[in-house]
Amino acid sequence: MLAIIGGSGLTRLSTLAVAHREVIRTPYGEPSSALNFGQVAGRDVVFLARHGHGHSIPPHRVNYRANLWALKHRNVDAILAVASVGAIASAYAPGDLVLPHQLIDYTSGRQSTFFDGEDRRVVHVDFTHPYSAELRNRCIAAARAAGVAVHDGGIYGAVSGPRLETAAEIDRMERDGATVVGMTGMPEAALARELGIAYVGIDVVVNQAAGRGDSAQAISIERIAGVLESAMDKVKTLIDHLVQESAA
Ligand code: HPA
Repeated sequence: MLAIIGGSGLTRLSTLAVAHREVIRTPYGEPSSALNFGQVAGRDVVFLARHGHGHSIPPHRVNYRANLWALKHRNVDAILAVASVGAIASAYAPGDLVLPHQLIDYTSGRQSTFFDGEDRRVVHVDFTHPYSAELRNRCIAAARAAGVAVHDGGIYGAVSGPRLETAAEIDRMERDGATVVGMTGMPEAALARELGIAYVGIDVVVNQAAGRGDSAQAISIERIAGVLESAMDKVKTLIDHLVQESAA
């Protein structure tokens, strides 16, 4: 079963015909929201709002372990993780979609593993390629078929937030090779890997990162909402096509 985790701007999926909602309790506490089970293009999918239905949970307070555990518990084996990002690379403009192929984790202080040693087991998972190549390729094919432009590849820098970055922090991330910056990509991707769930990020560029272009002096928070809304239509079209093609 395919899951869609919606971020800012995607607290519900208008193309999803919701059949039922399920509140799941987990050993890690409560997920961000109930799971919405339903169909997109005739195929069963489940939707989870990462920041809660009312968009009330900031990135550093999202219970990533509960979210991922709940999805696994309901037999999810693939996740499309939609998230908004700032563009570090000048090749990306607000409104663009990026499908990253790599990530760098700058977060700290988050519960970032299921293997925290409580059960006296030492487990290391391979994370060389954090995103599922197979699912990424399917997303790219679906985007092409849908006529939705996406950047094939990018390096996601995950920060803790909720504050935005300084210009110097973005310069450092650029030197590291990061091309986009966001606050939720980790530990989400790693937890999915620990559970053996295929995971891809669908990143929506909503602003240029601090110190870049329009954001040279400051990041306009007001402008972000407008960009998000228009770009989400593209995300929904992409998801629709992906689901249809998987069903075919
Ligand atoms: N930085 C971090 N996270 C973000 C940004 C940003 O500029 N834009 C959207 N999410």
